[in-house]
Amino acid sequence: MPGILLGDVFPNFEANTTLGKITFHDYLDDSWGVLFSHPKDYTPVCTTELGRAARLAGEFQKRNVKMIALSIDSVEDHLGWSKDINSYNGEPASTTLPFPIIADDKRELAIQLGMLDPDERDKDGIPLTARCVFIVGPDKRLKLSILYPATTGRNFDEILRVIDSLQLTAQKRVATPVDWKPGDRCMVLPNIPEEEAKALFPDGVFTKDLPSGKKYLRYTPQP
Ligand code: BEZ
Repeated sequence: MPGILLGDVFPNFEANTTLGKITFHDYLDDSWGVLFSHPKDYTPVCTTELGRAARLAGEFQKRNVKMIALSIDSVEDHLGWSKDINSYNGEPASTTLPFPIIADDKRELAIQLGMLDPDERDKDGIPLTARCVFIVGPDKRLKLSILYPATTGRNFDEILRVIDSLQLTAQKRVATPVDWKPGDRCMVLPNIPEEEAKALFPDGVFTKDLPSGKKYLRYTPQP
């Protein structure tokens, strides 16, 4: 299946959306971007996901991340569905969401970006889109992708967490360990020599002794 790899420049596609026609790179401008795809409009899991995404819009904005959703129905369907999503959130049933939804009704982007889920098909037997998350940096390159099947809803707290890690590690020479949260200690990158690490991380580098005697498990407070 065609797809896009980490580090690739994300395709600068044109698309119809609930906010009109866009060109993806112009839409992102110099922000980070998150594109999340959905199998179908008016489906239960997708409605809970888009509801949560709408409620978290301020968190994405704080991180300078522009949101954009995609589903394989028309703009008209998306606008009708948006009313349900707002109502699900306990808001007035308006067509306005804090991000556009791409109308990929011909599945052109779903195919180009490798987003089809062969196990989930519509009534005509055509594959639906999987639940993809693509995070694109200000350089328009793919920084992270997550791919869930249609039957498993995503965790938007995890999406914010990985954005925090991506933005930190883009600036500082650290990696974030298992279950890291902002403010937790980080790992010093393995390719940084000991003396350089001491200079780079004045708050301290703490090395865990291991049976191998190798000094690779090096922590530092989050820089
Ligand atoms: C849903 O969003 O609920 C859904 C969509 C397609 C397949 C399964 C679940």
